[in-house]
Amino acid sequence: MSDRVLVAEGLGKTYPLPKGELRVFEGLDFELKRGELAAIMGASGVGKTTLLNLLGGLDRPTEGRVTLDGEDLFAGTDREVASIRNRKIGFVFQVYHLLPEFTALENVSFPLMIGGAPRKKAFIRAAEMLQEVGLGDKAPSRPGQLSGGEQQRVAIARSLVNNPSLLLADEPTGNLDWKTGERVLRLVLDLHERKGLSSILVTHNEKIARYCHKVYMMEAGTMKLLAAPPS
Ligand SMILES: Nc1ncnc2c1ncn2[C@@H]1O[C@H](COP(=O)(O)OP(=O)(O)OP(=O)(O)O)[C@@H](O)[C@H]1O
Ligand SMILES: [Mg+2]
Repeated sequence: MSDRVLVAEGLGKTYPLPKGELRVFEGLDFELKRGELAAIMGASGVGKTTLLNLLGGLDRPTEGRVTLDGEDLFAGTDREVASIRNRKIGFVFQVYHLLPEFTALENVSFPLMIGGAPRKKAFIRAAEMLQEVGLGDKAPSRPGQLSGGEQQRVAIARSLVNNPSLLLADEPTGNLDWKTGERVLRLVLDLHERKGLSSILVTHNEKIARYCHKVYMMEAGTMKLLAAPPS
């Protein structure tokens, strides 16, 4: 097995605009080694979320390719891309994207059911995952009954319930106060280690970047590996 989980080559993204187009980046190369935790930093609007969406198969690149576990992520139809995504990639966003009318347990179980797991089995596994993020007792609560940090932990449980090989987190602590954010971050770090994940974390926060093995700075359409995490 290759030691590279994720490889992006010559990646480019151009958005169509009402008048003309916006080229966010082009010819971008990136790789993530197995077990690695990488941070991506950079000014607002530079293209971090755009890049993460391409690396995770949420959006197609205008040019270039992404290989995940040796498999060309965009080779198939949108449905096939979605299937790879559901099996192999966990996403955590700044806004939690939980379904408000469903309980924490139901929210965490959905990726399993989408993958074809029977309801009962999905609930058992989802309950285990909620335990792992310290929310075993909140299984019957709806998102509106949970604090921001708790909702983010539910979202993390949901992102990892399928045992993905890759975790992509876009400012996972951006909406939380520093203390809660740090607790959520420690949880991500702990799960990253215990589950043998490879992870990319987009963050504006240098304190958070310091926890990562590698820190990249995105600037004017390029990615620079910083010699050392910012101090
Ligand atoms: N769907 C879209 N259509 C058109 N332009 C878009 C679209 N999504 C993003 N953009 C533009 O692409 C650029 C990069 O946006 P992106 O969201 O990737 O930035 P970011 O680095 O994640 O910023 P932030 O730190 O504020 O989250 C911005 O100029 C943004 O306005
Ligand atoms: Mg963003």
